[in-house]
Amino acid sequence: MPDESLHLPLVQRVLEREKDAPGALLPILHAIQDGAGYIPDVAVPEIAHALNLSLAEVRGVISFYHDFRTTPPARHTLRLCRAESCQSLGAESLAAQLRDHLQLDDHGTSADGRISLRPVYCLGACACSPALELDGRVHARVTPERLQALLEGCLEDGSC
Ligand code: FES
Repeated sequence: MPDESLHLPLVQRVLEREKDAPGALLPILHAIQDGAGYIPDVAVPEIAHALNLSLAEVRGVISFYHDFRTTPPARHTLRLCRAESCQSLGAESLAAQLRDHLQLDDHGTSADGRISLRPVYCLGACACSPALELDGRVHARVTPERLQALLEGCLEDGSC
């Protein structure tokens, strides 16, 4: 487990900059996640104190929005499109393949910490469904074989 206190200077900078803005909580959470890659638990009491909220209120917002992470990100992030066009053209079988391969449902990080799986609801590639995004790059008309090759690429990646 990383030393989360390393993120406190970032948290304090963000709070100083954003805490007085109307509706500050979401921009604060996004800024912390952008800077740290996730929302470290050590940030929660700092945010609650700065915004005069309870810990439960801050944690409730973090858990409500699936985009917020409470653990450090994996080396690779795969976002499978689960919107209608992709669903009708094979996304569910790709999701089943990911469940088999990574033992993950729509959210989570593989046991080896290499791949995080997250759903997305349209990548703007509906004409080429099913689509997914791996580390920011969109892949369209993804077949089971193509998905397998992408997963193997992540697992064999020397940076992993
Ligand atoms: S529905 Fe999947 S890219 Fe639009």
